[in-house]
Amino acid sequence: MNAGIGTELVRPDGRAKLTGTAQYSADDSTARLVHAALVTATVPRGRVAELDTAQAAAAPGVTAILTSADLPRLATPPVPPLAHSLIPMQDDTVHYEGQPVALVAAATREQAQHAARLVRPRYADVEPAAVFGSGEAVVPAGTYNLADPDVDVGDVEARLGEADVVVAETYRTADRHHNPIEPSATLAWWDGDQLTVHDCAQGISVVRMVLAAAFELPADHVHVHCPFVGGGFGCKGFVHPHQLLTAASARVLGRPVQLVLTRAQMFTACGHQPATRQTVRLGATRDGRLTAVEHTSVSAAARADDYAEFATAGTRWLYATPALRARTRIERLDRPQPTAMRAPHEGPGMFAVESAMDELAHQLGIDPVALRLRNEPETDPVTREPFSSRPLRQCLREGARRFGWDTRPPQPRSMPDGTDLLGWGMAVATMDTFRFPSSARVRAEAGGRVVVETGTQEIGTGQPGVLALVAADVLGVAPETVEVRFGDTSLPEAGMTAGSSSTMGAGSAVHAAATELRDKLATLGHGTPADLLDATGLTSLDAEARWDPTESGAGLSMHTYGAVFTEVRVDADLGLVRMTRCVGVYGAGRIINPLTARSQMIGGITWGLGQALLERSVFEPSLGRFLSKNLAGYVIPGNADIGHIDVSFVDDHDPHASPLGAKGIGELGAVGVSAAIANAVFHATGRRVRDLPITIEALLE
Ligand code: MOS
Repeated sequence: MNAGIGTELVRPDGRAKLTGTAQYSADDSTARLVHAALVTATVPRGRVAELDTAQAAAAPGVTAILTSADLPRLATPPVPPLAHSLIPMQDDTVHYEGQPVALVAAATREQAQHAARLVRPRYADVEPAAVFGSGEAVVPAGTYNLADPDVDVGDVEARLGEADVVVAETYRTADRHHNPIEPSATLAWWDGDQLTVHDCAQGISVVRMVLAAAFELPADHVHVHCPFVGGGFGCKGFVHPHQLLTAASARVLGRPVQLVLTRAQMFTACGHQPATRQTVRLGATRDGRLTAVEHTSVSAAARADDYAEFATAGTRWLYATPALRARTRIERLDRPQPTAMRAPHEGPGMFAVESAMDELAHQLGIDPVALRLRNEPETDPVTREPFSSRPLRQCLREGARRFGWDTRPPQPRSMPDGTDLLGWGMAVATMDTFRFPSSARVRAEAGGRVVVETGTQEIGTGQPGVLALVAADVLGVAPETVEVRFGDTSLPEAGMTAGSSSTMGAGSAVHAAATELRDKLATLGHGTPADLLDATGLTSLDAEARWDPTESGAGLSMHTYGAVFTEVRVDADLGLVRMTRCVGVYGAGRIINPLTARSQMIGGITWGLGQALLERSVFEPSLGRFLSKNLAGYVIPGNADIGHIDVSFVDDHDPHASPLGAKGIGELGAVGVSAAIANAVFHATGRRVRDLPITIEALLE
């Protein structure tokens, strides 16, 4: 029997990645290539008065030093997908520390990076950076808005007034950086007015669109190639200045230019998750029915742009309530532009709401799982739309069963174990469902091979395996015979690999193309594709199709759900928290490849653990910059930090989300974990920590 959807398929690309033969953008090269390095501003606000390049120009291997005077003036592409409405090196203004002010080209990457350090800018009109909490909270202007910043249902004040119990608290999440293992890398060259770019990106067609707009070219004059991507987590989603500057310098120099960002530049050049300050007010009756939900979030933003962390997003569909008020605000500050980071919006937002729900459960003396079950809505509490699917009840019950939640004593500090305190906490996870139109081509060849072609990108999620399973399922062939080609704008255009959308997008397109091919093959007779081609003397047969998400799901409230249960062990003397156990049960649509799907969720939970206990980019006010631009000063979880993680999925098939029944998975895993851990820390210690990450100092003070 041939394996199809639902089979555990080992990554077809795994061997190449493990043996080091998989190509990444920085591995690519071409004749006459020069390597570039960026000189970046060391002040947060001011002007470049002078750039002394004499010493750098004399350094070994240097071929050119480009400043704003040398670069062509670029058009501003639509913002987004351009991350930043201000393109650097177009004038002498400095808007944030880390902004590129010059570019050095040299024979080797090391020579370029060495010489870049020898460029001496002199700054004028320098001003200190405003820091988060010092500015004014304003309504985001709309450029990046996911949803309405203001949502009002019913009368929140009146309903809070009638409540038996009110929880009103402020929660904070930290600035965080994506830190994929592969720093961003771009290789660009021109043939006349044809631009070719090898990039690492979460959306090759987005890169093409932005470059075409910046250089005022038709889109078909720009060719983007993207081999494997070494992780993105959102930072390679939008297009950042370094990609434009690489293409611009290749044009000026008349040679291919390759730019690889340094690890330090990854802290200023391609976004971060902005810190948030969130206030939640919940009102409830004695028996645990919510009477009002209010959620206000303020996130740190760049001075000129208004990327908002929509932390209130998930609050809108989470619980049944007669009154709901959500406010999303930003504070414009002197810092680089933030961007989406796994899991954007609901990741920081659910920390606040699900911590507040735990506080409510404790005050009411109601079990936290029972409190969630009691407030399950029948329809979307804001839009009143039916849910496309909402298996949250099953997730809660199955998660509680797998974890052994029923034996939890409700009182804090009731599970001491030697000098340690054990604690159990839980939280709900939810994510919005993003769907992007996508196209694919599927070809059956006489030798028995099936080729799938779609302009998606593989950022580590396992797309080649997922797409092979979809094609194999439809055509009735073994997935090992399916070769998946991706990562090039010459292929049929697919959506971005963002918003946990690729399986719905590229997967549905492959499903449609394979179905069309199967129908064509059926006109030839009965048999395997290879037999049919043999019998008719054809060398190959193909079909191309496009999936348009607007054709399904209109008028439905469409999201993914999960329930996360954690056990922590807190060393009461040292304030050290370890997550020893985590159970995550998810309702996220039909699962195509359970093996890589579980891996995605384990990765997401690991991200949630980082958010809860470790990750924080300290913004140093006196320097106006992120302080530790390296992986020594920015701590992420290592294997030793990860306890036992048990991931499973409940049966969920959402035909409204996609013809596959699939929804999004990866980012959902990062949601809810930090609240579940904070709630477990409260259960262990009796101490409620409302600021992430939960530090040793917070537990010892
Ligand atoms: Mo994800 S932060 O939407 O790439």
